[in-house]
Formats: sequence, C-alpha cells, structure tokens
Amino acid sequence: MRFYVPTDLRIETDVVSASAESLAALGRRCLVLTGAASAKKCGALQDLCGVLDDMQIEYRVYDRIRQNPTVDACTEAGMFARQMHAEFIVGIGGGSVLDAAKAAAVFAANPALDEQKLYAYAWDRTPLPIVCIGTTAGTGSEVTPVSVLTDANGRKRSIRDDRLYPALSLGDPRYLASLAPNFVRSCAVDAAAHCIESYFNRNAAPISRLFASRGAAMLASLLGKLDRLTDSERTQLYLASIYGGYAISVTGTAFPHAMGYFLTEEYGVPHGTACAVFLPAFLRHVETAAPADTAAFAVETRCGTQGWIDLLTSATPRCTVTLTDAQIAAFRQRFVRNSGIARTVGTFTDADAVRTLTEIFKEKGD
Ligand SMILES: [Fe+2]
Repeated sequence: MRFYVPTDLRIETDVVSASAESLAALGRRCLVLTGAASAKKCGALQDLCGVLDDMQIEYRVYDRIRQNPTVDACTEAGMFARQMHAEFIVGIGGGSVLDAAKAAAVFAANPALDEQKLYAYAWDRTPLPIVCIGTTAGTGSEVTPVSVLTDANGRKRSIRDDRLYPALSLGDPRYLASLAPNFVRSCAVDAAAHCIESYFNRNAAPISRLFASRGAAMLASLLGKLDRLTDSERTQLYLASIYGGYAISVTGTAFPHAMGYFLTEEYGVPHGTACAVFLPAFLRHVETAAPADTAAFAVETRCGTQGWIDLLTSATPRCTVTLTDAQIAAFRQRFVRNSGIARTVGTFTDADAVRTLTEIFKEKGD
C-alpha cells in the first residue's frame, strides 16, 4: 500500500485571500487558466486577481479551456506560460480546467514536447508548480496526480504521474453557489462514482477505503437534495468530492469511468453523467463479485445496494443516448485490455461490457 498526496489543501471561505503568502512563495509570474465564464461568474477569478495584484505577482489569463480539454489547448497554454516566463500555473474551474492546468505545466517546462511524448512520459523537466482553485464539487482533481485530456483522435486519455500533484489546492464553498442545477448533479454523481469505483477496486487499500466510504456516506445524505443545498451542505459536498479524489489517487477508477468516456467523446454527455449511468450495473456486479465488501459498504454508508441505485438514478441527469446492436458491437474493441475495466473487482470482460451496454442503451424495438 502506498499513500502519497503532497498537495497543500485548504478549504474555507475566502481561502484565496488567506493564501496570498503561499501563492507568492511559488514565484513572481503566473499563467491563470480558466474556462469561458465560470471563473468570473463564481467570483474566483476576481478573488485571485486581487491577491496577485496585492502581492505584485505578474499574471496573464488564458480563458480558452473548454469541457474535455484538448492536448492542443494545453500545448498553447504552455507556450503562453513560457513566453511570459511564468513560474507557476493556476487553474480555476472544474475538472476540465484543473486537468488542463496540470498538462499546461508540463508543456510550459518542456518546449519540445508533443502529444506522443506527453503520453509516453518523455518529459525531461519537472512541470511548473500547479495551483488548483476548484469551483465545482465532483472531480477530485485537486488532490490527484491525474490529467484527463482529449487527444488528436478525439479520445479521452489520461496521464498519471506524481509530478502532476498540485502544489496548492484551494476550495471556497461560495464558488459552488452559482452552478446550474444539472451541472451540480453531474459533478456530484461523478464524486459518487469515484468513491464507489475506488471502494470496489482491485487496488483498494485500507486508506483508500477510508476516504471512499466516508465520502460515499456523505454523498448518500446529499444526493437526494442537490437542488436545495445549504451553505454547510455545499461544504460537505465539496469535501466528499475531495475524499473521492484521495480515494482514486490510490486506486484509480473502474469500469463506469472506463465505459463512460465514449459517451462523452461520441455524444457529448457530461463526464459525471456519462460515468454514473453505469453505476447501477457496477453495484449489481460487485454485489455478486464481492459480497462481503458490499455488505461492509452498506454498513459504512448506511445505504444498501438498492438504496444506492435509487439515489443515483434520481440524482443523475437524464442520458438520452440509444445505441443499435451494430454500434454496440463497434464499441466492444475499446473494452479489450482496458485498464479501468481491469481494475474492477471480480471478473468483468469485454463481453460483460457489451451486455451492459445492451441493457442500458439498446434502442427500443431494435
Ligand atoms: Fe470522474
């Protein structure tokens, strides 16, 4: 067992202002990555710019990171960082921006890097220090060494390396208040997927289980009321997402994440929703494959398998994708020797993946 998360994590109201000295310790110049609007809408960008001005840290804002960020966007952000001699990278946003900040930090430090070398981990130089300011509750990327990017072929592929752990991660629950309800749901079920897939994982260890079951227990009491959260419940939701992040930093995810990627790539289904639609099938699978762990999980989260399935089904935004037999057959190859599928406890093969797809997505009357 190994537990290594070298990230300075802080969660409190006004955390960005309170962390001015820590930001200044990282350097005199930084590149700030954001999406199109959310970092401004939630107030995080203004908070950060105020602190950077006060501390006389020079900065530029790169606001071209989109959902499911491409390697190209990260390459460009890395180039901007180099041009301004940035000494650290800040990402403000959800998983897409935080993951992009990690990759941009690699590109910034390694001018000759291309996509192939990125995925081959052929980086000579240590990435710039990374600061994550999380504005959603779901990804857990604030405390993981993982960056999931969309490659030149439109496929989601991750890099995982200890050098990608953020130096500093800041969470202010106020930033969650401006999120659209369906987005909150998709992020929350992503956090649930992290906890559940980590708990029932071949790499599970006592420490990852501790985070996974505690995060899941918190989510079990929050998933039914995501549309009317109080401030303190928002803090709990954020914390649960961080617990999920700690859990998967040890174990990685399992088949719901591995299978969810194609729904995002091919049909634009938001990441959390795309993974969570597979959770009922995953819970049914582990009920048979790991009955003792299933019983322990039910006790620890005070919710049994059917209770979890009901909670997740009502919390997950609707996914309207339908597939024909031919489409399902074409996806099969993706699930052969897939590492996420291999991490699932018990035996789950590409044939099981095809059966699962058929059960969930088969067009009626086809
Ligand atoms: Fe996820």
